[in-house]
Amino acid sequence: MIAAGTEEAQRFRLLAVDDDQVRDDFAAAVRHGLLQRNKMLPCRYLYDARGSLLFEEICRQPEYYLTRAEQEILDARAGEIAARVPPDTTIVELGAGSAKKTRTLFDAFFSRAPGTRAPRLRYVPIDISRAMLAASGRRLVEEYPRLEVQALAAEYRAGLAALGPSEARPKLVLWLGSNVGNFRRADAARFLASVRRRLGAADRLLMGVDLRKSPAVLEAAYDDAAGVTARFNRNLLARINRELDGEFDLERFAHRARWHERRGAVELALVSVGAQRVAIRALGIELAFADGEAIHTESSYKYSAGELARLAAASGLRVETRWRDDAHRFALVLLAPRVTRARRRRAAARGRPVSPPARGR
Ligand SMILES: C[S@@+](CC[C@H](N)C(=O)[O-])C[C@H]1O[C@@H](n2cnc3c(N)ncnc32)[C@H](O)[C@@H]1O
Repeated sequence: MIAAGTEEAQRFRLLAVDDDQVRDDFAAAVRHGLLQRNKMLPCRYLYDARGSLLFEEICRQPEYYLTRAEQEILDARAGEIAARVPPDTTIVELGAGSAKKTRTLFDAFFSRAPGTRAPRLRYVPIDISRAMLAASGRRLVEEYPRLEVQALAAEYRAGLAALGPSEARPKLVLWLGSNVGNFRRADAARFLASVRRRLGAADRLLMGVDLRKSPAVLEAAYDDAAGVTARFNRNLLARINRELDGEFDLERFAHRARWHERRGAVELALVSVGAQRVAIRALGIELAFADGEAIHTESSYKYSAGELARLAAASGLRVETRWRDDAHRFALVLLAPRVTRARRRRAAARGRPVSPPARGR
């Protein structure tokens, strides 16, 4: 706990949407998702305070290779990444969570100018999980005396929109943990295009992407033997019980993780064990579930090298560098804004020429 008025407190700010708004958005999403013919709940609601802690536990499961593979790449490449952006860069992180892996980048930035000679580094984590942001922000300013944390507890788009004019400074945007996989492919391209519009020519986006591999390995990663992912998934129903006075019996919903070949995604669902009716009192609704009926809770799209290149191109980005872990399970890609001829012409007409377009790989 940081005491008010201390030096650490001055380096940590948390801006959050008010609690009533969060509750209203959750209530509207639950109503909309569960009254559909194919019931679904948006995966961002998996991350309340309890869900965020369960996700941390998932990262420690032997089957969940994603975190370790991404960490392996960061351990090998953080110095190289830090060297590619200016020293006064602001690091903006989408879906930062506990920012455990981000520390590898902070270490690399600060080791360029150790001690008090290091310029202050500004870090803007954006995450829907306010509890996790508050806890990790406090820890970060204690651990790194030259770090300033301006946390935004918000959905990605609202967080990006809230970035102030100071973000005209050089930026490195991080989107780690293969969070991009939670977007359908076309939506991922649309979202990345909106990120790209916020990037200046020297800014970069570092994105972690899980690669296509054997369905058995993928399904195990989302259905660990210790049952942590199952608890994480069911916590969504527990959250409805807690926040919306729901009456879900968690024992009567089974966790399912299944590879969907055509989509190229692992699909998570909660499947009704037997026919049942469930009331959600705060919404004034009662739902009927048939035996075996599923509530879709998360998609995790996986990428091949070709799909990744197409995603970058469709988003107005070019792959500057792509690194993989030794076992080629995961990729970390450094993306730069693609400069089109039209943009160069417009910039030249304004008397502010931009560097020529680099070719994507
Ligand atoms: C899979 S975890 C990854 C956490 C961390 N980046 C890592 O690599 O370990 C996803 C994180 O993104 C956040 N998140 C998910 N959907 C979000 C959304 N739509 N807007 C903002 N944050 C979101 C969650 O709260 C969670 O912290």
